[in-house]
Amino acid sequence: MNANLVLIPGDGIGPEIIGSAAEVLRIISRKFNHTFSMKEADAGGCAIDRHGVPLPDETLKACLESDSVLLGAVGGTQWETLPGHLRPERALLGLRKELGLFANLRPVKLQKVLAAASPLRQDITDRGVDVLIVRELTGGLYFGERGRGEGSMGPYAYDTERYSVEEIRRIGVVAFEAARKRRKKMCSVDKANVLESSRLWRETMHVLKQEYPDVQYSDMLVDNAAMQLIRDPSQFDVMVTSNLFGDILSDEASQLTGSIGLLASASLGKGKCGLYEPIHGSAPDIAGKGVANPIATILSAAMMLRMSFDLAQEADAIEAAVEAVLEQGYRTGDIAAGGLSVGTKEITEKIIEALEA
Ligand code: IPM
Ligand code: MG
Repeated sequence: MNANLVLIPGDGIGPEIIGSAAEVLRIISRKFNHTFSMKEADAGGCAIDRHGVPLPDETLKACLESDSVLLGAVGGTQWETLPGHLRPERALLGLRKELGLFANLRPVKLQKVLAAASPLRQDITDRGVDVLIVRELTGGLYFGERGRGEGSMGPYAYDTERYSVEEIRRIGVVAFEAARKRRKKMCSVDKANVLESSRLWRETMHVLKQEYPDVQYSDMLVDNAAMQLIRDPSQFDVMVTSNLFGDILSDEASQLTGSIGLLASASLGKGKCGLYEPIHGSAPDIAGKGVANPIATILSAAMMLRMSFDLAQEADAIEAAVEAVLEQGYRTGDIAAGGLSVGTKEITEKIIEALEA
């Protein structure tokens, strides 16, 4: 097949980890006879420096015309004092919104060989950690009306959480469909004991669940869900939740696997084009040192092949290569638990060796 990909390295460790994923994609294209044309584009802090805005028009245009986008990470301390609309993170939010990517899929799976890197007790990890977090991505508090003003108690600021039935329904459909392909359990997470938007969320999910009698459905309040993820993550299969709750719970859940450096994500909309990215940030503290863990980005490329291009065999090959390298004992610093570690280049080479074996 032929696919036009846009690669957005972004900031911090972004260029290093995207470099690794691009190498893996080149090997896959050679091995399986595909043509992936890869075009790089600027977004985030580097785009602010080069073009004055976090999401330049030509980047957005390239993404809109592409078959899928692979992104490293955006952000860094040097841009933290810029006004909200000029911060690197705006690039990500702009891409999600403009590409209509309302569904964010974040699989959280603990690999057996990494059980020691998980902060959970072994009797808990023995029960397994394999959760798919489905996060609503283009609505809620991230995109609601916001502002500042002057009140009787001085200056104030506000953000609003607003969800329509249709926004809730379509993310619910993505989650139910995903549950059908997994262990057929879905937990919808909200704060319906306090928030009106959560009450509409829950009502809408309850209507939708009638269409999925084969999926075992439950509701959970977000504070309890945060606790249950630590107490017994094996109770969860698919979790579906709002933009803000999903942001928080997915970082929490990532730790169960030992490192956020392993977790991939897909952001999808109505069509096949998606945005794939590791769920971690730009890690400015280790940028340029050659020690970043590229696995989350490499696994994001695998997700892209599977979900946007229906290349299951190719995606399986990448996932198996990563697993093999971890089984051989190779670790980057974040998952080495104080033991020996290798750098970004070395682990990428090992993954490529495993792919070619
Ligand atoms: C994520 C990130 C982003 C978010 C930031 C960088 C805007 O934390 O993808 O989880 O909050 O969505
Ligand atoms: Mg986040």
